[in-house]
Amino acid sequence: MDIEVRPCASVEELRDSLNAIGHYFGQENTLEDAERFAKWIEVDRMHAAFDGDLAVGGAGAFSYRMSVPGGHSVGAAGTTAVGVLPTYRRRGALRSLMRAQLEDARARGEVAAYLWASEATIYGRFGFGLASRMGSITLPRERVRFAQPFEPRGTVRLVDLEEAAKTFPPLYEQIFAQRPGMNSRSQAWWETRRLFDNPQFRQGGPKHRALLELDGEPAGYAIYNVKQDWAGGSTKGTVNLTEVMTPTPEAARELWRWLLDFDWTSEFRADLLPLDHELFQLLAEPRRMQYTINDGVWVRPIDIGAALSARSYEDGEVVLEIEDAFLPENEGRWRVTPDGTARTADAADLRLDVTGVGSLYLGGFRFADLVRASRAIELTDGAAARGDRLFATNIAPWCAEIF
Ligand SMILES: CC(C)(COP(=O)(O)OP(=O)(O)OC[C@H]1O[C@@H](n2cnc3c(N)ncnc32)[C@H](O)[C@@H]1OP(=O)(O)O)[C@@H](O)C(=O)NCCC(=O)NCCS
Repeated sequence: MDIEVRPCASVEELRDSLNAIGHYFGQENTLEDAERFAKWIEVDRMHAAFDGDLAVGGAGAFSYRMSVPGGHSVGAAGTTAVGVLPTYRRRGALRSLMRAQLEDARARGEVAAYLWASEATIYGRFGFGLASRMGSITLPRERVRFAQPFEPRGTVRLVDLEEAAKTFPPLYEQIFAQRPGMNSRSQAWWETRRLFDNPQFRQGGPKHRALLELDGEPAGYAIYNVKQDWAGGSTKGTVNLTEVMTPTPEAARELWRWLLDFDWTSEFRADLLPLDHELFQLLAEPRRMQYTINDGVWVRPIDIGAALSARSYEDGEVVLEIEDAFLPENEGRWRVTPDGTARTADAADLRLDVTGVGSLYLGGFRFADLVRASRAIELTDGAAARGDRLFATNIAPWCAEIF
């Protein structure tokens, strides 16, 4: 049996290849579902694996800009909707899909791919390294006191989709320039995905969109919903905070104060928060939010030289010897400096494989972390410390949504 991998040529093929991952979500996509998905992805960026006419697997890539350290961004493939039907597993379909997707991304000039992994064991072999961590919180209503009380001066308004689609994107753009790891969002993404309240995916009540204004200007926003519940006549409901974006310290203070003063709930839940979230310093009792850390996004540099040259650095330089079994064109020695990254014949300071470069890229991990975990080897004395001074960033990477 031969499996052929090629880009989808129609929305029907997109639907059929999406049904491979749909199988595991317990859902079957209609043509309408595929048409909605096609608002976010070019149809030919979904690769499908075919057995004859039957689509047996698929792997998609969103055309993103991904923010990287220094307020820059790179073209990146946002790997998504990866699945192979259970009747076709372990025959190399995923391997062929990943090869086709990464080659296609390279041809489009994208220097990296990144993804959220359903299972961490799948993607290392294709060169993806853990690049960020994220946290979830469950904060009881009675433990929301701030360490430093203040007098709020902003106003918060609930806005409809249309107003949110105008006012939220520029605020998101401000965070995009501050935080590595964010994905760019098209207007269609905002209107039909992030802000859109699809009743099919509701867990609890409708999606609310809250806009914070300071001096009459948009300053921050929140997307949340209420899941109400009762025990003995009192609320044991939850406010689910889907996304809270506050580009300035004042916006963070004002909007989180407003959100956490919500009446008639017993707890607040939020997921996918960055490791260095403001709440650790804002709250009087940060332990009470039960911050639980998990793995975040996984990054796969596709073009090592271009990817490393695209971000900012502090002082110094380091020579890396990089191994890359899946894309061997990346292998060899690379000198990384604030002025760019280029091949070199000089002796290397550190040896690591491409997954390690993915882990370092956004600033989510340090050379010291990789060396301690036997993911990088120091070839010259003090190389990890030197590399860490060069790659240092002052903010944790953050990707605020699972794609
Ligand atoms: C994960 C999945 C896409 C793999 O597809 P597949 O066609 O069976 O994969 P392949 O046959 O190409 O396997 C490639 C390699 O990955 C390994 N692999 C595949 N699935 C794996 C899994 N779930 N965990 C660990 N390793 C896995 C294979 O053993 C093989 O290893 P090798 O290169 O050392 O031989 C498929 O099993 C699936 O659809 N799973 C459920 C949905 C899912 O998890 N999707 C990922 C969403 S992020």
